[in-house]
Amino acid sequence: MKFALLKQSALACSALLLTAGVMAADVEVLHYWTAGGEAKSVVELKKIMQAKGHVWKDFAVAGGGGDNAATVLKSRVVSGNSPAAAQVKGPAIQEWASEGVLANLDVVAKSEKWDSLLPPVVADVMKYKGAYVAAPVNVHRVNWMWANAALLKKSGVGAMPITWDEFFVAADKVKKAGFIAVAHGGQNWQDFTTLESIVLGVGGAAFYRDAFVRLDQKALTSDTMKKSLEVFRKMKSYTDAASPGRDWNLATAMVMQEKAAFQFMGDWAKGEFLAAGKVPGKDFLCAAAPGTANAFTFNMDSFAMFKLKDAGAQKAQADLAAAIMGQEFQEVFNLNKGSIPVRMGMNMAKFDDCAKLAAKDFAETAKSGALVPSIAHSMAVKPAAEGALKDAVSQFWNDEKISVADGMKNIAKAAATK
Ligand code: BGC
Repeated sequence: MKFALLKQSALACSALLLTAGVMAADVEVLHYWTAGGEAKSVVELKKIMQAKGHVWKDFAVAGGGGDNAATVLKSRVVSGNSPAAAQVKGPAIQEWASEGVLANLDVVAKSEKWDSLLPPVVADVMKYKGAYVAAPVNVHRVNWMWANAALLKKSGVGAMPITWDEFFVAADKVKKAGFIAVAHGGQNWQDFTTLESIVLGVGGAAFYRDAFVRLDQKALTSDTMKKSLEVFRKMKSYTDAASPGRDWNLATAMVMQEKAAFQFMGDWAKGEFLAAGKVPGKDFLCAAAPGTANAFTFNMDSFAMFKLKDAGAQKAQADLAAAIMGQEFQEVFNLNKGSIPVRMGMNMAKFDDCAKLAAKDFAETAKSGALVPSIAHSMAVKPAAEGALKDAVSQFWNDEKISVADGMKNIAKAAATK
């Protein structure tokens, strides 16, 4: 009797294991979300996948902006050991797809109706030759300026500056009051994030598009570009001597801790403020970078899915793609990440005023034509030109012996990189 029972339960156990073996699969996800707000966001995706019975294999490669992650991804794919999904965005999705290594997601995209849930401009970035190969997560706005509310008050700055002239007046007051005006991390993608907001503010969206999307040589060597580089150089004198190499989230921490007044950074910085319990509108303020209120530099995070052989792993991958575009994930992830949902028709009730402003401006600029891709965040040009431009921009930022005229020549030359 006892033996029979034991045998029965052993059989039941192995049946359970078998079902689990068929249904559950490892899903390895390469990402670079390692800062406070970012880590909280990615945990939400992990939870959803675990609830579906899959095993989340976290493949986090630290490094803001994702350059390190991109390098690691290349070596994994080249050695025939691709992860199921990797944080890849913009034109790089097309480059990976043209190598023939990405999976076709059309079955899940059709059953989940992605074509009717995504604006066509977004869907086009996720597709290669008409088929979905990546799933979009969010929309980040890059042209933000963040500030510490108490510090502005202590420095006698009444309101967030609206023009660059007003900005430097405010920055002088902050300096005079004994604080650092601009929290900056001297890494090439952060330098370029600052420059792209300046170019947008000084030149407007049409000029930005000519210079940083079309890479038009005339725009890149124009007076407007010269003016932008002058503002950029001036900005440097408002940063502290310890900025070289600093991670972006440590710069955000300087604003939180009342050491620095402003930071120019995309709204993943808001995720960082929120993760630290800071309240928007009270502890910290958000405003479009000076001169850019009517424009929007967008940066969409997305996951490219790589071809896998195992059927269980393919199922897990399809579940991941469906989860990413699901309402539950789009809400909870973006509440933590600082971005807004990319899926249309989402209820924004739980989002804060910065996110609501981003959602409104996203819709308005999509109509007005002032919605432009962020070059610093890999949305605008191919990786080779972006890399060369980042180097030229940071060289100019770091070496004050390079004149504005020479900096401009170097940047224009870098833009021609194929
Ligand atoms: C990504 C964000 C990320 C930020 C800092 C951006 O390029 O789009 O998701 O939080 O870099 O790493």
